[in-house]
Amino acid sequence: MSAAPTRLAVVGNPVSHSRSPGIHARFAAACGHAVDYTRIEAPMGQFVATVRAFADSGARGCNVTVPFKGEAFEACARLSERARRAQAVNTIVFEPGGWFGDNTDGAGLVRDIELNAGVPLEGRRVLVLGAGGAAAGALDPLLAARPAALVLANRTPARAQALVERFAASAARLDVPLSAAPLESPGAGFDVLVNATAASLQADVPPLPIGTIRPGALALDMMYGAASAPFLRWARAQGAVARDGLGMLVEQASEAYFVWMGVRPSTFQVLTELRREVDAAAAKDLA
Ligand code: ATR
Repeated sequence: MSAAPTRLAVVGNPVSHSRSPGIHARFAAACGHAVDYTRIEAPMGQFVATVRAFADSGARGCNVTVPFKGEAFEACARLSERARRAQAVNTIVFEPGGWFGDNTDGAGLVRDIELNAGVPLEGRRVLVLGAGGAAAGALDPLLAARPAALVLANRTPARAQALVERFAASAARLDVPLSAAPLESPGAGFDVLVNATAASLQADVPPLPIGTIRPGALALDMMYGAASAPFLRWARAQGAVARDGLGMLVEQASEAYFVWMGVRPSTFQVLTELRREVDAAAAKDLA
């Protein structure tokens, strides 16, 4: 008799759009694991009760997506260092003594930039837009990649300043200059730009001055599909290499799979297939 599958899920609201089940099904097939990964929509205000019911049913863990990453952080009994500093959890392991919370978003971002886009971050000047949970999740792994400088620019400058203060000790330990700047004047000639704002959800592009990024820079939006299109168009008009968040999505999933299963699935094939699906969906929307 074959063993019962390992049960996992992504919990969010809304969650019907999530591509995580397809990604994890492909990982499991490639690894020869029996995994049952589903979507669970938690009603607002009932995140913890919903996840607890799933945990009590014998599941191994879950991913957490918008808008529950902060609630997940609060609910975990044990946290990885990167989740503790991000104050956001996207991966939970159900353990006998309580939940272990991790954050694989930033590691996924850095792997996508360095391995998939082929841009080593060490010695590069990096600008991150935004100061919410998405930006916070990226900071520890970005700092660990030892850029020459890391600047945070946000519409509300005080939030960027608060993040800089939270990560100041890490930055100092790694000898990476970390600073906050206004969106309208973040500095010029950055090598790498990461859009971690929610602006793309409103088809908006943060108002960066011309010359913020150098020609040939990498400009990455954490969103993908139609949402990322305005930012990617803006980036190309600056002469940048534009990249959406699909690679980051697959890489953070691979890292989460490692947290649950102890194996880090390779991402190349899955990312290629997903890219084809997303492009086909975009072409259908345009038709
Ligand atoms: P998340 O957890 O996805 O990061 P969040 O905590 O609500 O979500 O943060 C959203 C981020 O996008 C914030 O940095 C926000 O800027 P403010 O701190 O000024 O609110 C930023 N953001 C949202 N809409 C934006 C827009 N139209 N232009 C620029 N920044 C925007």
